[in-house]
Amino acid sequence: GRVAVLMGGCSAERAVSLRSGQAVLAALQAAGVHAFGLELGADAVAQLSQERPDRAFIALHGRGGEDGSIQGVLEWLQIPYTGSGVLASSLAMDKYKCKQLWQGQGLPTPASCLLSDHMDAEAIVAQLGLPIMVKPAHEGSSLGMSKVHSAAELEQAYQLAVRYDHCILAEAYVQGREFTVSVVGDQVLPVIGLQTPHDFYDYDAKYQAGDTQYLLPCGLDAAKEAQLQALALDAYEAVGCEGWGRVDIMLDQQERPWLLEVNTSPGMTDHSLVPQAAAAAGLDFQQLVLQLLVSARL
Ligand code: DAL
Ligand code: MG
Repeated sequence: GRVAVLMGGCSAERAVSLRSGQAVLAALQAAGVHAFGLELGADAVAQLSQERPDRAFIALHGRGGEDGSIQGVLEWLQIPYTGSGVLASSLAMDKYKCKQLWQGQGLPTPASCLLSDHMDAEAIVAQLGLPIMVKPAHEGSSLGMSKVHSAAELEQAYQLAVRYDHCILAEAYVQGREFTVSVVGDQVLPVIGLQTPHDFYDYDAKYQAGDTQYLLPCGLDAAKEAQLQALALDAYEAVGCEGWGRVDIMLDQQERPWLLEVNTSPGMTDHSLVPQAAAAAGLDFQQLVLQLLVSARL
């Protein structure tokens, strides 16, 4: 059948998605799959009903493509798609709801609260300490995020974030090391450590600067790596993710892990993390893409 690689979309991560989508499309075509790229825009519903592919590989990131919306359209059209279903996609896209769910299950995630335009900056600092990460709740690739070092900086961080989203999260910053854990099918892949000279792992560090160090092996001892993998799988399953995903975790200076978020449509660019972790597990990019495609479902 015909496979559509869905890319682009209308989110702030459109450019990243186009890179993910092109890489996926090239791999599928090289493997002899009858695949074509479908660059979605504001008329995505019409585009999909017209094209009616037999299967969809979702290489969309952010709102509209990773939040359950397009998944719902594909359900209506009865087109099997890669990755999580509507509910898990939606929950994972909302960092605040996702954290509440994890907390409810006793899984560790940094303290947080929602910000509003009449917030009491001093009270928030008293609650969360400093520094604080300010994030749009439904955004990816660190877009609109700031690391705040004083109560006075909160307002400006809020104003930046609110350009991306109406729902803004303040989260206690975890001083320590950042890791990411990929899940593909029922396999948890080797952990990757991330070291950036930037103040945090921001958009520039992710896609532009080329100065991030990817530690693979991650530099943790086997027991600690296994602990992060088990936590990532618990976090993934708590949300009800399917197919694949990537869980971002901080390890504080006492070596305690803290869940930041789960990505249900992780990046597939040449800088991206899931492909690197898969390669370390003996799965090359083409094999990874084919495995994901085969797992597509309704
Ligand atoms: N949101 C980006 C694409 C990622 O998590 O990889
Ligand atoms: Mg993300």
